[in-house]
Amino acid sequence: MTDRIIAIDGPAGAGKSTVAKAVAQCSGLPYLDTGAMYRCIALSVIRAGIDPSDERAVAPIAESAVVDVDGATVRLDGEDVSTLIRGTDVSSVVSTIAVHSRVRTAMRLQQQAWVAVRGGAVVEGRDISTVVFPNALLKVFLTASAHERARRRVEQVGGDIDETAAAIAERDRSDSTRTDSPLRPAEGAVHIDSSGTTVDEVVSAICAEWKARSGG
Ligand code: DC
Repeated sequence: MTDRIIAIDGPAGAGKSTVAKAVAQCSGLPYLDTGAMYRCIALSVIRAGIDPSDERAVAPIAESAVVDVDGATVRLDGEDVSTLIRGTDVSSVVSTIAVHSRVRTAMRLQQQAWVAVRGGAVVEGRDISTVVFPNALLKVFLTASAHERARRRVEQVGGDIDETAAAIAERDRSDSTRTDSPLRPAEGAVHIDSSGTTVDEVVSAICAEWKARSGG
């Protein structure tokens, strides 16, 4: 099955979601946004009034939540939370809950099961090519300059550029310095810096690489 997996990792705002959705189209594979899964757990933690840094309190939520990701539609215990999980309150808590090993294990198992049932996928996140699917046929590390990532985020959801850049920098720091599966390029990953390129150019490069490797 690993020969039907495209793993895309990178920091917030690098363009992973846009690129991964288009790559799903050209490869004919389903698309899984693993950040949405972590966001569901963050939402649950906020609702329960739990301290997000308390692993023993947060872990049971991650281990029991029923998270259902179907394209852009995300359900948490049956409720459509697709919009709610994109809120700034969730964004500011999600990196804190994502450091916990028990949370990561629960998410990893769900992600592996999701892909196994479908026989392959384009999977996007922070640790997909390093930990979740290290044997994926194609591994991509997608990044962009910090300034460009902040600019894109403001264009998408509004807000102040300096505050957005600071929030992104803090999330980068937390995601790449945690002990359990930090964000870093995997061995054998194709590095793409999307700063000066269009989405189409990035997508074309990944699709061409996929076709060459998969023989299709
Ligand atoms: O891609 P995103 O911004 O929706 O991800 C939200 C957070 O979830 C991100 O700050 C770190 C965490 N995450 C993770 O730790 N591992 C993943 N595979 C995906 C996301």
